[in-house]
Amino acid sequence: MKRMRTHLPSRKAIAVLTAALLATGMAACGNSDTGDKGDDGKITLGFSQVGAESGWRTANTTSIKEAATGAGIDLKFDDAQQKQENQIKAIRNFIQQKVDVIAFSPVVESGWDTVLKEAKDAKIPVILTDRSVDSADKSLYKTFLGSDFVKEGRLAGEWLVEQKKAAGGPVNIVELQGTTGSAPANDRKKGFAEAIAANPNLKIIASQSGDFTRAGGKQVMEQFLKANPKIDVLFAHNDDMGLGALEAITAAGKVPGKDITIITVDAVKDGMQALADGKFNFIAECSPLLGPQLMDLVKKVHNGEQVPARIETQETTFTQEQAKEALPNRKY
Ligand code: AHR
Repeated sequence: MKRMRTHLPSRKAIAVLTAALLATGMAACGNSDTGDKGDDGKITLGFSQVGAESGWRTANTTSIKEAATGAGIDLKFDDAQQKQENQIKAIRNFIQQKVDVIAFSPVVESGWDTVLKEAKDAKIPVILTDRSVDSADKSLYKTFLGSDFVKEGRLAGEWLVEQKKAAGGPVNIVELQGTTGSAPANDRKKGFAEAIAANPNLKIIASQSGDFTRAGGKQVMEQFLKANPKIDVLFAHNDDMGLGALEAITAAGKVPGKDITIITVDAVKDGMQALADGKFNFIAECSPLLGPQLMDLVKKVHNGEQVPARIETQETTFTQEQAKEALPNRKY
């Protein structure tokens, strides 16, 4: 009787088949089109930063970079040099590179709908951090992480009202606004104006942008001092502009913190030092240490978890005495 020949695959053929199947499976797992982790297994985050305009921004950038490293997130960082067109370009690049998540701190509030829609169509979740946008369509981003800027302006105004309630005559205030059209400039202005509104003797006699920089603060304060013989109060939307203004005030022969009451926002180390030295009078804090919370959110949105629509940072205020106490432990 003839023996039947069975066509069982050889060991070599089985090995080749198994390797091919494994390779196909792995490629599917690492496919960034599906929003999964990249080849190195890390989540890729594209982050567009406003720029490097202030001490606050430097501390914020450090916080984000350190937190990304700590969380094992692959960070693609872009500095927009305070230009919206650069941020739009960076976001489009991130979309093209198929990053897993995009986060950005919008330089101004308006004009984001088109590029945010492009990210949404590409199925890349977007997180807003530090500054928000005024888009009516809230589905264009997953969440906002940052400060309540209106509250910061209000706290600054309330402190001033309390200090000047005994002042009989007019109190002349000059205001150094942040970058025109930015959320912190719009909101701090609003909060401050609301807080002093019921006190007609507190008058804002001049208000102009110093672009959140020391140079801008100095230059605009020089103009204010030339145009207004009696300035009682300076409200600067951040420490850096206040620090620039100090130079202009001193050069004009006035004593900062005494002849002119100075209120700022941020509480970075240099600002706190000026407050402890009696050159500033009050600071409303704005925390730049957003990195760790941002990385948590990146992981959550990447995993498709629900996150709150808005997450606000816990902040405080500082008088001169409180600044002296806090300075030795200040991290930024
Ligand atoms: O958006 C936060 C603000 O931007 C900070 O108060 C200011 O210092 C920075 O430039």
